[in-house]
Amino acid sequence: MNLTPFHDESVRQRLLTWYRSAHRKLPWRDTHDPYRILVSEVMLQQTQVDRVVPKYHEFLALFPDIAALADAPPSEVIRAWAGLGYNRRALGLHRTARAVMDEYGGTLPACVDELKKLPGIGPYTAGAIACFAYRQDVGFIDTNIRRVLHRVIAGPDVPDPQMTARELEAIAQHVVPAGDGYEWNQALMELGATICRARAVRCDICPLAADCQARPTIAGILTEQPRRRTASEPRFETTNRYVRGRILDILRNTDGRGASIAEIERLMPDGAHRPHATRIASMLDAMVSEGLVMSGSAVAEDAEPYDQERVSESSRYRLPD
Ligand code: ADE
Repeated sequence: MNLTPFHDESVRQRLLTWYRSAHRKLPWRDTHDPYRILVSEVMLQQTQVDRVVPKYHEFLALFPDIAALADAPPSEVIRAWAGLGYNRRALGLHRTARAVMDEYGGTLPACVDELKKLPGIGPYTAGAIACFAYRQDVGFIDTNIRRVLHRVIAGPDVPDPQMTARELEAIAQHVVPAGDGYEWNQALMELGATICRARAVRCDICPLAADCQARPTIAGILTEQPRRRTASEPRFETTNRYVRGRILDILRNTDGRGASIAEIERLMPDGAHRPHATRIASMLDAMVSEGLVMSGSAVAEDAEPYDQERVSESSRYRLPD
């Protein structure tokens, strides 16, 4: 491991100068509002920038501040999340908003340790809010920062990383330049998102190339890496994540009525991998216990009171109130 580049003032300045001239204009880079930063960072976890930008604007139009988000029922927040995937993030964000209203009078705290105590906020989001909203010189890691740090100080991260996430997090905290934390962390992310990507690198235009341990070998190693999906890996349509996403899409489109398992099964997109009722039922169980879905055995209005078949048929699922 060689930390020298990050202690060298001219290398640091090269990264910061590159960021100032090359970064993408993104809406959350125009604000210091902690709520907006929170929304953007939660959305950006596991979702590409291009998909986040329009959803970010839509979400803020619906929930312009943390009080509006906290006041909304979870069903509305889950509806607003359509298209972003990993819907548990919507619930987590909603829980954060409610806790901030209850415990902090509606203002997100500025201190990383306080932020980490909030539901829905992990070490990354806490660091990002402290740094991007409150301009603190704190270090943290996401996949981009972790990859960039690893490559520069320890060499290629593939096929196997040489450093753990915990070690890289400690280094991230250690190397933040005083007074430049905001641009430093944005720069590491931007480099990882645009130049030092997981499966493709542009070392020819990288401001850190001359000081990078991975530089001599990373391009060759990446071209030899196997393709993303090998024959043994499942198609996306067969994964639990896909099925959960489609179940929620169906429930988003049933107003307060919700849907029975049979209806959900019927409404699943066509295709060779259409899930059966038993699979849907077990996924619904998990989603109910996570709070993403509510089950209610509402008997249809026109059912006879003891009509067992109707009762079980009318066991319904809907987005949580
Ligand atoms: N990914 C996560 N946070 C980001 C940010 N602030 N800017 C760009 N991409 C990001």
